[in-house]
Amino acid sequence: MAQILDGRKLSEKIKERVKSDIEKLSRHSVDVGLGLLLAGENPSSKQYMYATVKSCEKVGIKAHQNKLPDDVSINEILNLIHSINKDERISGLLMFLPLPKKINARRVINEIAPEKDVDGLGSLSVGRLAADESTFQIFRQGDYDSLYSGEFMSAVSSFLPCTPFGVIRLLEHYGIDMKGRHAVVVGKSLAVGKPLSLMLLAKEATVTICHRETRDLGSYTRQADILCTATGIKGLIKGDMIKDGAVVVDIGINVLNDGSITGDVDFGSVEKKASFITPVPGGVGPVTIAMLLENTVRSAQRSHFLKHPLITG
Ligand SMILES: NC(=O)c1ccc[n+]([C@@H]2O[C@H](COP(=O)([O-])OP(=O)(O)OC[C@H]3O[C@@H](n4cnc5c(N)ncnc54)[C@H](OP(=O)(O)O)[C@@H]3O)[C@@H](O)[C@H]2O)c1
Repeated sequence: MAQILDGRKLSEKIKERVKSDIEKLSRHSVDVGLGLLLAGENPSSKQYMYATVKSCEKVGIKAHQNKLPDDVSINEILNLIHSINKDERISGLLMFLPLPKKINARRVINEIAPEKDVDGLGSLSVGRLAADESTFQIFRQGDYDSLYSGEFMSAVSSFLPCTPFGVIRLLEHYGIDMKGRHAVVVGKSLAVGKPLSLMLLAKEATVTICHRETRDLGSYTRQADILCTATGIKGLIKGDMIKDGAVVVDIGINVLNDGSITGDVDFGSVEKKASFITPVPGGVGPVTIAMLLENTVRSAQRSHFLKHPLITG
């Protein structure tokens, strides 16, 4: 029977640290704010926004909520982003995806100032990840707290996308070594699969990426020491598609008719063979929000550090 990778426990630990860092900043009269931008009525985005606001309240981040109608124009969204970029009270901006169909999401995401792109999805953030310029943030194994010390602050010029960063933190938290192991990632989206593959590569795993056009998915997943799946297809990964002792990370979220959620993995058959497995809910989801809060406080610390480099602690 597989050991559970408990995302709730890890997220509480990360949030405690974030809360204490926010308290330190408030001693210097620095308030930490997170801009939230929701356009349209997507139910999962609304749920994610609600959960984010609650988490912000718990740690002392002020959530600046902006809800725009489904027929909002791109200019209105861009104007709002520009004003948030200039707003000293706001350290990070999260835009909920998907945006309404007529809005070009990449155009909009790329308007977020890189130093406020706490979801790490802008082209500059993605490029820095690919160029290994921001991956040093995932080399602080067991010592993430030192990232908050002054010496690192000036180097943190962009942020790692929250969900894949959360996956790496979860694996590390449970002492799962990635170096030299075969990691198979199912899904190649810009928000999850692609950046996760780059981060696993930075951790020196051997990485295979699968997607919709992959032929005979099971022939790849069965080779995985670490299998990460992010497709949103309920039950895609079954017990006969993994090898004995594999680590299985289920990032997928599917909302069922009764409102409950389930992942990509057929938990019952897979947990019998896996060594570690994430539950859905309670696995990657809570850590994603914790990473968003951590990136936000890091952004606030960084701008405070750049303005007052001699003041630490
Ligand atoms: N837990 C969290 O915190 C969190 C955060 C973000 C997202 N999610 C969830 O993760 C899932 C993926 O999110 P996303 O934003 O990456 O979604 P997405 O943009 O729709 O990407 C889905 C990916 O899955 C691939 N795929 C689809 N069908 C497949 C199949 N039969 N076999 C192999 N690959 C297949 C697609 O391949 P192609 O590129 O070839 O089409 C695509 O790369 C969703 O359920 C989402 O709700 C969870």
